[in-house]
Amino acid sequence: MPIINRMAELQDDIAAWRRDFHSDPELLYDVTRTAGKIAARLREMGCDEVVEGLGRTGVVGVIRGRDGGGVIGLRADMDALPIEEETGKQWASKNPGLMHACGHDGHTAMLLGAARYLAETRNFAGKAVVIFQPAEEGGAGGKAMVEDGLMDRFAIQEVYGLHNMPGLPVGQFAIRPGPIMASTDEFEITFRGHGGHAAMPHLCLDPVVAVAQCVNALQTIVSRGTDPLASLVVSVTQLRAGHAHNVIPDTAWLNGTVRSLTTERRDFAERRIREIANGVAATNGLSAEILYDRNYPVTVNHREQTEKAIAIASAIAGEDLVNAEVSPLMGGEDFSYMLEARPGAFIFLGNGDTSGLHTAQYDFNDTAIPYGSSYWAKLVETLLPAA
Ligand code: NI
Repeated sequence: MPIINRMAELQDDIAAWRRDFHSDPELLYDVTRTAGKIAARLREMGCDEVVEGLGRTGVVGVIRGRDGGGVIGLRADMDALPIEEETGKQWASKNPGLMHACGHDGHTAMLLGAARYLAETRNFAGKAVVIFQPAEEGGAGGKAMVEDGLMDRFAIQEVYGLHNMPGLPVGQFAIRPGPIMASTDEFEITFRGHGGHAAMPHLCLDPVVAVAQCVNALQTIVSRGTDPLASLVVSVTQLRAGHAHNVIPDTAWLNGTVRSLTTERRDFAERRIREIANGVAATNGLSAEILYDRNYPVTVNHREQTEKAIAIASAIAGEDLVNAEVSPLMGGEDFSYMLEARPGAFIFLGNGDTSGLHTAQYDFNDTAIPYGSSYWAKLVETLLPAA
């Protein structure tokens, strides 16, 4: 069974919605225009229940099928990025400095398309809950919705997510059981010494030398401390110290990110960052102030639900066009919070040969729409069979 015919008929409408969302990008939780349009369309389609303002600006729609059956959550994200668009497309962002550079416009439109089909056909037993979350790009909107009672309020039993993937051909899917995206942590280290005249370093305690040593020492967490076959990233990305070429400053600061696929290695990285920063500080007679923030957890696909997702993607794309053992990505995804709350699976949908995510040239590929929308609809019809 390939894509659903009705979904192919709806493609032009869905693409028009997508381009409308694309032209008016909004950031993090400030997605009120996007959320308002979504809620209005869900009502127009005859969704049985539409709830706004969950997790601040999230939207949830409930579509009831026939009696009996279970409850499945399908999740899309709504927010854009602070990037100046350079696609030159007719539907390019009209909001300076903001852009849908991660395809959340496409995710939202495809899920709306599936909602329209499911509300029309209702060829399933139970409830389909369509979830539109704010603030995926660093604001933990998924967590906010879960904390606002998403799973319990709608009695969601399983939850599924989807993200487009540039480089994967249109019409293909990729997924894996277990960790599929990394945890994303942030650390900051401030070295405090004693500044003074750059010509008299012996009278100072120099934090610049310490911060330089620290950047190098942090590289050993992965290269010397981690099994070469395991995955861990420690990247120092910002350094700040000093104001003048002839003054040793009092403080020097760095920050960076840690990405891991297991809690064990996440714990290890945090412990080593603290040990190394304190050790470098002690070596130089300074103090170190260390902040370590745990942001998104590892996105872990549940085995049973991943197998269901693979079966449905295979039915749409063809078995040989579903990579069921894709390598995990070291990027993060706040659908992880929903997978901590309920069993489910996160799948990648081919976006074809487009620019990469989070680049100014990126645009969601509208030819992927029937595959994504059909995946959602088939997921509901297959997991909640009507007969
Ligand atoms: Ni994204």
